[in-house]
Amino acid sequence: MKKILVLSIFISTSWFMNAQEQDLKTKVDELVSQLTLEEKVSLCSGRDDWSSQPIERLNIPWIWMADGPHGLRRAPATNKAGYGDQHPATCFPTASALSATWDTDLIYQVGQALGEECQALGVNVLLGPGVNIKRSVLGGRNFEYFSEDPVLSGELGAAYINGVQSQGVGTSLKHFTANNVETMRMYMNSDVDKRTLHEIYLTPFEIAVKKAQPWTVMACYNRVQGVYGTQNPYLLTKMLKEEWGFEGIVISDWFAVVDRVEALKSGMHIEMPHVSDVNDEILLQAVKDELVDEEVLDNLVKEILMVVLKAKSLERDEVDQNVVAHHQLAREVHGQAITLLKNDDAILPISKKKYKTIAVIGEFATNPRYQGNGSSEVKPTQLDNVLDIIRNEYGKGIKIKYAQGYNLKNDTDYSMIKEAVQLAKESDIALVFAGLPLHYESEGIDRKHIDMPAAHNKLMAEVAKVQVNTVAVLTNGSAVAMPWINEVSAVLETWLGGQAGAGAVADVLFGAVNPSGKLAETFPIKLADTPASFNFPGEQGNVIYGERIFVGYRYYDEKQIEPLFPFGHGLSYTSFEYYDLKVSSKTINDKDILKVSLKVKNTGSVAGKEIVQLYVNDTESTLQRPEKELKYFAKVDLQPGEAKELTFELSGRDFSYYDAKRDRWIAESGDFKLLIAASSRDIRLQETIALESTQQIPLMVDKYTFAKELWDNAEARELLKEYMPNWIKGWTPEGKTMDEANIPGFFMEHPLIKFPYITHNEITHDEVKELIERCNKITYTPSYRTFKEVENVSF
Ligand code: BGC
Repeated sequence: MKKILVLSIFISTSWFMNAQEQDLKTKVDELVSQLTLEEKVSLCSGRDDWSSQPIERLNIPWIWMADGPHGLRRAPATNKAGYGDQHPATCFPTASALSATWDTDLIYQVGQALGEECQALGVNVLLGPGVNIKRSVLGGRNFEYFSEDPVLSGELGAAYINGVQSQGVGTSLKHFTANNVETMRMYMNSDVDKRTLHEIYLTPFEIAVKKAQPWTVMACYNRVQGVYGTQNPYLLTKMLKEEWGFEGIVISDWFAVVDRVEALKSGMHIEMPHVSDVNDEILLQAVKDELVDEEVLDNLVKEILMVVLKAKSLERDEVDQNVVAHHQLAREVHGQAITLLKNDDAILPISKKKYKTIAVIGEFATNPRYQGNGSSEVKPTQLDNVLDIIRNEYGKGIKIKYAQGYNLKNDTDYSMIKEAVQLAKESDIALVFAGLPLHYESEGIDRKHIDMPAAHNKLMAEVAKVQVNTVAVLTNGSAVAMPWINEVSAVLETWLGGQAGAGAVADVLFGAVNPSGKLAETFPIKLADTPASFNFPGEQGNVIYGERIFVGYRYYDEKQIEPLFPFGHGLSYTSFEYYDLKVSSKTINDKDILKVSLKVKNTGSVAGKEIVQLYVNDTESTLQRPEKELKYFAKVDLQPGEAKELTFELSGRDFSYYDAKRDRWIAESGDFKLLIAASSRDIRLQETIALESTQQIPLMVDKYTFAKELWDNAEARELLKEYMPNWIKGWTPEGKTMDEANIPGFFMEHPLIKFPYITHNEITHDEVKELIERCNKITYTPSYRTFKEVENVSF
């Protein structure tokens, strides 16, 4: 009964939504028919810094856009920059912390809270989330992005968008795409091959668009394969709209537009902010000169108005900003993000029975670093610090002493270390708060190295020399080197925790919250070990994506490099057992849904949450593939002794690679391993399944195709036999068939254009052309096995 009721409510709401959308469409069509050409053009750029263009004559309203992503940076007015004088708003942990939760439900809740604050402060579109891949550890905006992995980034981005948009507020999925370096960000060309672009840099956007339909997408500053992101028809029209079905509008990153007309023609709707009337005039003239079809303009304007009118219709009056509840939520969220990297002898959580005097060392304990530098900077509604929270909430019955340890304004001022070391010596345990000061991580500037300030590293090492119970509590938005790692007992990675982060850090240190964060990015031992180290930030305006698809853990696996801490790693105060892995079938095809289930049990004595990761490994493939690729993950909450079953559903795409030649995803027949892991380097369970592809892909032959590619294909081989029988017979041993010919690899690696030469003109140039045409009618089922035969051919 209940189910039926729920279903009918769902049907009627979706019917209502459709009816509402239909009404909007009709209204928009009417409006556009009444607009002058000048008015239509004017709608394609902002009115000022933060708002869209209204048309008062027709009661077309404007909407307010504001940064994002981890809190609202709302300027006092839409024509004010809003740095420093923005309205206070809840500062949540930044994306690198949010991603360490691996918790889509929680990120949805953060989105809801952000949406609520937008409603309260009159903002219609929040400029976030950023789902760009952390290609290099040096990326200046890494703190603002989720992960080095496309699936994790996309899923978390989708959760964020769905949360914000559930409040009738839009989002802007940014920065579309391959925006992975801050150096020369207005010009840099991301020189990325097509397969990598699809598998790594487009996938997070694709997931977020398909699962959450952001109202807007923000086109990036950089060029991608030589074309600016704001005027890139392949990205803005072909991928976004045609392939993924994006229904919203594209806005430019601030001042990102270079060629206004090309931008419009490529599918970019609104130039932000309002740069000058000159750009409107250029556009107007282009339409008058028929360089742009007016219908193209009309369609873009219709899509703009759909978003504007929808946003306006969903505005709510008198929404409370709810800052007290949001501060509490920010604390809870950060508690789930904090990542316990090392915990020798279970030194954490701090036992008040064991440790009576606690040394709190490091300026970050009183003067927290809680967010990154740049456009995402939020003015917090309040700001906690760890020292006060520890004293007020956990200090009863113990002594808490503080030493500053370093000077945040001077990286090489060692003058305070002595006092800190003395305090550590006299205490039972030392908590050393260190990390990256604000100026180390900033939009617009890449990092030059991965070191913490010299004074922080020295302080840590010196304290560890005198205090065996030294806990490193790190504050940073991206990976850092830890030269003192073997000297300290524990490392707590606390990221950039937002305004309430201090409370969460104290909760984890004292065990009120069991840490459950895991790394969404690999921590390297040294910079030289990192995937992009040869190609970052790029030279002369070009950055070669030389590591190709081997980004993040894919690279460390391929190169067999031991990271400091691997992707997906994070400890808990309890332990978990993984068991009972089951698959719904050992053989599937690419259209099937494969169900994979397993059980996880909390085998320790405290409640805890575990993040389970599912990776796929293609055991043999035609193209080079990473050793493992994350496809699914889940966070499971377990009481001591409790077990739960998790189920994942895999589809053909999860086994596919992107074939750049054929421009499509291919799931090749063959064996695949399913790896169930606690981190990318901690595989707990595995199973092998066989995939039988049903795809039919074109052989795709041209004059440079190798002989072996034809020989491998049964149909094409028949054609070779038809055109050059004598040559093949010449390589066929006595008593064997032509199919068993022993053609040397040397000849097999000749392209078709050279066939007339190697066969001494048995096949002519004209016949080669004919052969190519006939081969191009052939389709086949992709399978690794087809290429095996060739490898056996000896010279
Ligand atoms: C940033 C965007 C931001 C915009 C508006 C740009 O410089 O790249 O992320 O949303 O400014 O502040």
